[in-house]
Amino acid sequence: MSEMIKRIAVLTSGGDAPGMNAAIRAVVRASSYHELECVGVFRGLQGLIEGDFKELGPRSVKNIINRGGTVLKSARSKEFRTKAGRQVAYDNLKDAKIDALVVIGGDGTFTGSKVFNDEFNFPIVGIPGTIDNDINGTDYTIGYDTALNTVVEAIDKIRDTANSHNRLFLIEVMGRDAGDIALNAGIGAGAEEILIPEQDMGKDRLVTSLKRSKKSGKSSSIVVVAEGDQIGKNIIELADYIRQNLDEYEVKVTVLGHIQRGGSPSCYDRVLASRLGVGAVDALLDGKRDIMVGIACSKIVQVPFAEAIKGSNEIDLDLIRVADITSV
Ligand code: F6P
Repeated sequence: MSEMIKRIAVLTSGGDAPGMNAAIRAVVRASSYHELECVGVFRGLQGLIEGDFKELGPRSVKNIINRGGTVLKSARSKEFRTKAGRQVAYDNLKDAKIDALVVIGGDGTFTGSKVFNDEFNFPIVGIPGTIDNDINGTDYTIGYDTALNTVVEAIDKIRDTANSHNRLFLIEVMGRDAGDIALNAGIGAGAEEILIPEQDMGKDRLVTSLKRSKKSGKSSSIVVVAEGDQIGKNIIELADYIRQNLDEYEVKVTVLGHIQRGGSPSCYDRVLASRLGVGAVDALLDGKRDIMVGIACSKIVQVPFAEAIKGSNEIDLDLIRVADITSV
């Protein structure tokens, strides 16, 4: 147990994700359990620079476990990328007598946190919070499960129109660099084709495959396209290409956008966030720093930031196979 840590700060940074509030709540209440003081930082790493701090106790975080977004607000801080910005952040933390920091966010947040720890040797533990599920070393990130459910619900609704009008819908989902949302929601919603950044199917193969499925008796088609997919310049251009090369369907485009980031977190995300919040405070009290707490095979794990931010372009080939087999 580290005798040094008496006061912890918590922040959310980068894209908001459903379940971040549940993680804040867990960090605040775990701090209280261990008789530590807890401070909330508003607007992420930018809030460290602005010194935007507020004392939090167990009652400050009541009724937030069920709320989407983040009560601490979030931001993508350009200033924190500068040495001068980080120095101000460090000075503010010292002035506020904060001994350690819990950061809830994605790879950008962890990259900034690692640099900060390297420069100032300041104890930081990260909690993976992003709908993209693109953090190395954890099976799931907070918000991913909720986003999947939101996407599947939306695609189910679009399918009603696709079926009624014999249309082909291209549906863009989030995931700049990772196809996890597209692949899993695509399988869950019974998509005919799933286009992900990790694998370039090629436009011709896509059209051939869509023609084949039309011939097999399908009257409509759903193609899930991850935001970062490389097959076309963008989904509009891809739709034009399909229109020019496939007469069988009327082609429509839906971009789901930020509805994927909002909404009440699923039970899975609330439990994951609660476990990771408690795990982060445990890790700090154990003297750990420069790490993320994650989940692997249902167990809480500790992963160095350097590993967590490595990024992983590996796709689960079994999922691709399941998608191929079940979409015939
Ligand atoms: O990282 C989460 C994410 O939602 C990505 O899927 C998406 O590319 C990006 O954030 C969008 O960011 P912003 O809301 O800043 O436009």
